[in-house]
Amino acid sequence: MERKYNIIKCICYDTTFEQMKEIMKEKNINSIEELKEIKLVAANCKLCLPYIKRMIETGQTEFDIILDK
Ligand code: FES
Repeated sequence: MERKYNIIKCICYDTTFEQMKEIMKEKNINSIEELKEIKLVAANCKLCLPYIKRMIETGQTEFDIILDK
């Protein structure tokens, strides 16, 4: 059976991709670098980085697959 995951946030900084998306919309920014200046995310294990990139590309905020860096 195929395993499904429920990946919705940067676990290290307890911030959901949905929250990041909102911040980016409010501040009218579109890069991870700019986001990181406003909100501490993706600065520890960085496992969330590929998901944040995908979120910026597609608007998706929930993932059920493992993305590579
Ligand atoms: S999950 Fe985002 S830095 Fe670890």
